[in-house]
Amino acid sequence: MGIKGNEHEYEILVSEILGCTRCPLHTSRTKAVPGEGPLNASVMFVGEAPGRSEDLEGRPFVGSAGKLLDSLLSSIGVERSSVYITNVVKCRPPGNREPSDEEVRACNGYLRRQISIIKPRVIVALGRIAGRTLYEMAGLRWSSIRSARGRVVRVKLEGVDVMLTVTYHPAAALYNPGLREELEGDFREVIAPLIKGASVARKPTLEDFLR
Ligand code: URA
Repeated sequence: MGIKGNEHEYEILVSEILGCTRCPLHTSRTKAVPGEGPLNASVMFVGEAPGRSEDLEGRPFVGSAGKLLDSLLSSIGVERSSVYITNVVKCRPPGNREPSDEEVRACNGYLRRQISIIKPRVIVALGRIAGRTLYEMAGLRWSSIRSARGRVVRVKLEGVDVMLTVTYHPAAALYNPGLREELEGDFREVIAPLIKGASVARKPTLEDFLR
């Protein structure tokens, strides 16, 4: 499919997410948060669910966890605008509680379609909920974030060959210096080399070949 077809499919997906009523979270949200980034991004970051700032702005990772994610990305020389960022659940759970299994299930088709449209080479799952969801989507057995973090697994998701890695959620590391060190270590030693291998910002588009 050409890039234009891709964009069209993405626009439809975004408008479905913005008007979604598949689970009760739609009744308390301000804005749904589909995700953002280039559609030809090689790298996708997947968090848990929008928090308060994200719910107000309609954009992922713009609050305090987002500031830490931005600084982790810049510490490895990656522009935030070159990666695609989304969440497992697109609407804010009230009081920032964890999304329930039913909410994750109700929203899962959207993440599947994002992966199928963007076709990332690398997916970084941020935190336990994102790690568990992506492991289960790939048919892998999830045991714990402790055992999964820092490892890279090659999986097929929606027919796309993906290098999947899991690290801690930036929000968990905000007030825990030990976790923060491990998170920084994962970015430096696992995520940076993976992103380099995936040729950082973008896969070639149809337009590159037509130029
Ligand atoms: N935490 C998340 O998991 N996602 C966001 O977008 C913001 C905070």
